[in-house]
Amino acid sequence: MQIRIFDNAGQVGKATALLIGAQLVAKPDSVLGLATGSTPLPTYQELIALYEAGAVDFSRATTYNLDEYVGLPTDHVCSYHRFMKDNLFDHVNIRPEAAHVPNGLAANLSQAGRDYDAAIEAAGGLDLQLLGIGRNGHIGFNEPAETFIRGCHVVTLSDSTIEANTRFFASSDEVPRQAISLGIGTIMNAKRVLLIATGADKADAVEQSVNGEITPRVQASILQAHPDVIFLLDKAAAAKL
Ligand code: F6R
Repeated sequence: MQIRIFDNAGQVGKATALLIGAQLVAKPDSVLGLATGSTPLPTYQELIALYEAGAVDFSRATTYNLDEYVGLPTDHVCSYHRFMKDNLFDHVNIRPEAAHVPNGLAANLSQAGRDYDAAIEAAGGLDLQLLGIGRNGHIGFNEPAETFIRGCHVVTLSDSTIEANTRFFASSDEVPRQAISLGIGTIMNAKRVLLIATGADKADAVEQSVNGEITPRVQASILQAHPDVIFLLDKAAAAKL
């Protein structure tokens, strides 16, 4: 595990975008795993700037997002489909058919999860997975649990996650209670993992993930067993290391 600490969230975004850009230079047809939430926004802004400067090309890339809420229309302002269009896909030259987000509207969500895993496998697996981290140590929407779940599955969101994500909705009642999320097995099979965390409210989760025992109670702790993982942190998120 490599840990890189930066002064602020903007610098984390720059460094992360450069690593993703380097991945696309080394392998233009890379399969990228992408995240939503507040933390990746500076990274996506930097990637758009790199694209506009001609330094990054998404034309041969394929992307798979980590997760989506169950039951939100894809054009809902809080859906992760919409988030990715607004914050990255509409601003770079990714082929629309190559940019994937789990289907939270599927009649059979378990089957949709299996299909998503099969598509990632057929694409050759993830070359690089970008992750944020929840205040409870979740990655994707893999919440604290008794076990690690390998495949893409339906998750019941924890109270802590509902509370954290209420900021995007009109009220906590509007936050969907379920999501569909990539599993820990698929994340761990990514050839390289970049975990980004910024802000003091992530400091405990980062510390437990880096220094604590590997436990499904802190899902990100399993990254200690990944052969190529980089934590990119601002000073506040790294404060307890
Ligand atoms: C988002 C995701 C989540 C977030 C995490 C942190 O696709 O999978 O695990 O990365 O909840 O969210 P932010 O960045 O909003 O603090």
